[in-house]
Amino acid sequence: MNEYIPAVHRTMYFIGVTTKKSSIMKVFPLWADHLNLDAEIKGFDFEPHANPELYREAVQFIKNDPLSLGALVTTHKIDLLKASRDMFTNLGQYAELLGEISSISKQGDNLWGHAKDPITSGLSLEAIVDGGYWQNTHADLYLLGAGGSSLALTLYLINKRKTNGDTPDKILISNRSEARLTEMKKIHAAVGTGGINFEYYLCPTPEENDLLVTKLKPGSMIVNATGLGKDRPGSPLTDKVIFPENGIIWDFNYRGNLVFLEQARNQADGRSLKVEDGWVYFIHGWTRVVAEVFHIDIPTSGQDFDILSNLASSTRL
Ligand SMILES: NC(=O)c1ccc[n+]([C@@H]2O[C@H](COP(=O)([O-])OP(=O)(O)OC[C@H]3O[C@@H](n4cnc5c(N)ncnc54)[C@H](OP(=O)(O)O)[C@@H]3O)[C@@H](O)[C@H]2O)c1
Repeated sequence: MNEYIPAVHRTMYFIGVTTKKSSIMKVFPLWADHLNLDAEIKGFDFEPHANPELYREAVQFIKNDPLSLGALVTTHKIDLLKASRDMFTNLGQYAELLGEISSISKQGDNLWGHAKDPITSGLSLEAIVDGGYWQNTHADLYLLGAGGSSLALTLYLINKRKTNGDTPDKILISNRSEARLTEMKKIHAAVGTGGINFEYYLCPTPEENDLLVTKLKPGSMIVNATGLGKDRPGSPLTDKVIFPENGIIWDFNYRGNLVFLEQARNQADGRSLKVEDGWVYFIHGWTRVVAEVFHIDIPTSGQDFDILSNLASSTRL
């Protein structure tokens, strides 16, 4: 049960499921100190798909409490916005398009909602692949899972492609059930794919995902965007999967029993794989929302960004 006690210090909230377990509880005080935010962080936990009234209560509290400045939202991004849309004065362009928010912030009396994933997933991708990678390798991108973060990454790449940036020519997406694939196809059709060739696959079993992996070109990137390994146990692939030579294997998560990453690490030497977890995504995700909530400029790369990244990493030791 969350308690809505008026803040006596400037406060940012984390709206999630098991917020106390997140690294941000250790990281935020270090960042707050370094950035002179004079602020603290508190978590509000909800079961997935909670009662809409509970989301409204949290948003109402943040909106009305002067020292409660905003929040980062995970897991409840769609449900929270659905429940409390009328309380927001402004929504960012991606929040409107996706019907979700990961950032709640205030400007005077106005309550703002932003969907940051199409930006932060892209920043994370760029931190992992070298400049010109797709053009040089002609490799594919395979997204396991067609949920919010997977869709966000495709939107980032579509935008990049439309401005002549370097992107994969082909992106494969698989999901265990149809609904999210259909939703993704609909959004891609509405925005236009900019010439990227998207292939959508309904794959109820890990064996079917394995089969798609065998179709990928050398150097391809495979992303676990299913939450398997953190939100639920297991991996979307079987132990028999054979990763593409020189592939880049990325799990969006950094905590949990990350079986998918273990499968990749077992083949890392033999097949020359680059294996990445979701830590860099965590850093970009949080820094973009902190910048929004406190109305400060936080660069997305360079020395000042590296200081924040190193401070965060120091809590992992
Ligand atoms: N590091 C970070 O900062 C960061 C940032 C963003 C996201 N993430 C993580 O990334 C994960 C995904 O986030 P999200 O917001 O995209 O979640 P989401 O919207 O719930 O999407 C997950 C998708 O994966 C699908 N799926 C589940 N099991 C599958 C399987 N065996 N094979 C194929 N597809 C499967 C689900 O299918 P159904 O449609 O059938 O349910 C759903 O469409 C979460 O664990 C989240 O914590 C991490």
